[in-house]
Amino acid sequence: MKILIVGGGGREHALAWKLARDRRHPVLFCAPGNAGTAELGINVPIPAEDIDGVVAWARREKPDLTIIGPEAPLCAGLADRLQAEGFRAFGPCRAAAQLEGSKVFAKSVLQAAGIPTAQSETFTNAEKALAYVRAAKAPLVVKADGLAAGKGVLICANAREAEDAVATAMIHQSFGKAGRQILVEEFLEGEEVSMLALVDGRQAVLLPSAQDHKRALDGDQGLNTGGMGAYSPAPMETADFRKIVLDTIFNPTLKELRRRGITYQGVLYAGLMMTAAGPKVLEFNCRFGDPETQAILPRLKGDLIPAMEACINGNLLPEHAACRPEACVCVVMTAGGYPGAYRKGDTIAGLKEAAALSETMVFHAGTKLEGGQIVTSGGRVLGVTALGRTLAETAEKAYQVVARITFQDAHYRRDIAAKGISRTKT
Ligand code: AMP
Ligand code: GLY
Repeated sequence: MKILIVGGGGREHALAWKLARDRRHPVLFCAPGNAGTAELGINVPIPAEDIDGVVAWARREKPDLTIIGPEAPLCAGLADRLQAEGFRAFGPCRAAAQLEGSKVFAKSVLQAAGIPTAQSETFTNAEKALAYVRAAKAPLVVKADGLAAGKGVLICANAREAEDAVATAMIHQSFGKAGRQILVEEFLEGEEVSMLALVDGRQAVLLPSAQDHKRALDGDQGLNTGGMGAYSPAPMETADFRKIVLDTIFNPTLKELRRRGITYQGVLYAGLMMTAAGPKVLEFNCRFGDPETQAILPRLKGDLIPAMEACINGNLLPEHAACRPEACVCVVMTAGGYPGAYRKGDTIAGLKEAAALSETMVFHAGTKLEGGQIVTSGGRVLGVTALGRTLAETAEKAYQVVARITFQDAHYRRDIAAKGISRTKT
């Protein structure tokens, strides 16, 4: 069986790692992949956003399954293009991917279905948005409608900051087309949790919960990043919580999409805020999270290929998402300076020693092979991951591996999973 994974980050290496263990022993291709995926399959030098390039490769190589990792190709319709040519693709069609591609569309689905979410107003006119934020109660959240590489959400402590945020998006057009429409949202307080589900067009089956760490520095300080680490399970995950999330969020979302004639197939990721009134939706993503996937897939009991095929065929079962009781912790090591300017091309030492340890995985993100060496090539470089009995023990194990890996100016947070660990102790 031939599988193409589209993407080249930590998420895609984790997918390749899980697929490489599948009893079907697939031959893996990754476009474009990284130094980690190169150890498990063949990297194909096609950028994930190059939809024509991926489709042309599929025509030549005829993969049995294509798994689309990032949001950009999904929102641009890669799944539709592949399916139109008779190829099986895991991931939502363009219309369904708008849940991530347009925050205005996502909010309209949430509101129409009566799903708990922040109150929000949509604006296409800067003057009207400015007048609104001057009169509204702070804090406020200003969101660019379209994809903005994780930078399009601005948390504003007061009206002045909110006016600046509106100007950034609509007048200075710092997010390009993505900021032509904006949402101005009520600020929700609470703890965040990522709930991902496999979806087969009809129903959703929840994967284990995970918690991301978005800020660059310990104690949730510093700038927002793509994610500095994740762990699973998140402390709020109980059977009741899962039922509430399924009944009040995932099922009504799919029902509302169906009402609009849209079929969702793939992974649906709901970023939730645990408020005093229960979980509310902050955002939807139309794909696996990064780094959440690195902390979720090692906990998945069964093989991924049958689960993905069931999503495509419309016969998903709860068993497809069954998980192991162990905890999983992923600590992201970044290049110094990330998410600002950072170095590239530094040699990474200690990977062989780390690979020899049991129940730990080093998922590559921004790495590449250069002159026989593995070197840094992105902001998020590695996701050092461990499985273990308790969260505390697992985090310790992950940090022992982190300590063995070195590259120039490496940075990582020292408090990944700390919130979960302190909760499980009390
Ligand atoms: P989003 O891309 O919509 O998930 O936003 C990115 C991050 O901004 C989220 O993970 C939250 O930390 C924060 N955020 C988004 N919307 C809100 C909100 N309404 N209230 C508080 N924080 C928010
Ligand atoms: N970890 C956040 C995301 O994947 O968007």
